Amino acid sequence: MTTEPLLIQALKGHITDRVPFWFMRQAGRYLPEYKQVRATCNGFLDLCYTPQKAAEVTLQPLRRFGMDGAILFSDILVVADALGAHVTFVEGEGPRIAHCNTAQTIAALNPANVHAHVLPVMETVRLVKKGLPEGAALIGFAGAPWTVACYMIQGRSGKEFEAARLFAIRQPALMQQLIETLTTATIEYLQMQINAGAHAVQIFDSWAGLLTPAEFAKWVIPPTQKIVAALHKSHPNTPIIGFAKGAGPLLNAYAKETNVQCIGVDQHTPMEFAIAQRAHEHQAVQGNLDPLVIASSKDESLRFSEMILRSIETIPAVFNLGHGFIPETPIENVEAVAKKVKAWRR
Ligand code: CP3
Repeated sequence: MTTEPLLIQALKGHITDRVPFWFMRQAGRYLPEYKQVRATCNGFLDLCYTPQKAAEVTLQPLRRFGMDGAILFSDILVVADALGAHVTFVEGEGPRIAHCNTAQTIAALNPANVHAHVLPVMETVRLVKKGLPEGAALIGFAGAPWTVACYMIQGRSGKEFEAARLFAIRQPALMQQLIETLTTATIEYLQMQINAGAHAVQIFDSWAGLLTPAEFAKWVIPPTQKIVAALHKSHPNTPIIGFAKGAGPLLNAYAKETNVQCIGVDQHTPMEFAIAQRAHEHQAVQGNLDPLVIASSKDESLRFSEMILRSIETIPAVFNLGHGFIPETPIENVEAVAKKVKAWRR
């Protein structure tokens, strides 16, 4: 009998003796070895679609820091690209996406294209599985429909995504159509990742916090519920992490209504509050360490890590950040936190 990776045990609601850890954006520009591989690519998406290189950068952080989980190297905008929205990344600026803000452009998106388009990503999953250190888990992921829709409507990154929010208010029927198309594509994409070997998946709703409570109840909860229900039906043994960044007081509804096994906790939410919002005592929590603190001070990040570990002492939990690493993060700070978490016991 093989024992399940520690990370998967925690996601399934077990209170593990040691707390498993990984970090959002653990593969990325704060690592010189990532930058080296990245320099050989013809743009960022080229890296996502080149399985050998994507598998290599997926595994790089585990070699350095010994995380319990590798997160598949890809991007949430791969689904938009697969649907036909023509995604490119401009160096130093970020993504550019053909605007999907009219009846024509939304109707032209085709979920039937997704399967063939994402096959290279599945090859990455298989290569990572072969190279995964003993006991480590592979986490697949996708963006949540609302967050991916923000980029597709806006056409680029934003701080408030006003164009996307206005579109949702002014054109609710078209918004519904876009969200449904994304939901269908996301279900297929995540099922393919699990079939290829992902042990767990995370749904990133990075812009959930931009919505009013009424909109959150419309654009965050139902699509997430639908994705979770479909995956629970097709792959009942694969835990799902739901990360609705900025949910704040709406975390309770998210935790209770989506049925995810684990809730992501951003750095703006007190961990004790997040713990109290859970649907049941087996729902795990993940996150909370401020990426700007770990980018700035080793002592402060160790102090906050200690507080997080204390707060989850009797709760099924995964140690992580409240959001992804920024490129300026010193490697020695990451090393220090990793060492502390690995040594900590309940
Ligand atoms: O290590 C990992 O976490 C795995 C890979 C991963 C990336 N993006 C790699 C990446 C994951 C899980 C993501 C998710 C993602 N992508 C999200 C959700 C999480 C979040 O951060 O909120 C979002 C919103 C995106 C969209 C995206 N990708 C933007 C807006 C940008 C450009 C901004 C930037 O930081 O440059 C990206 C690019 C991107 N995705 C990079 C990486 C390592 C940097 C690009 C590079 O190397 O040139």
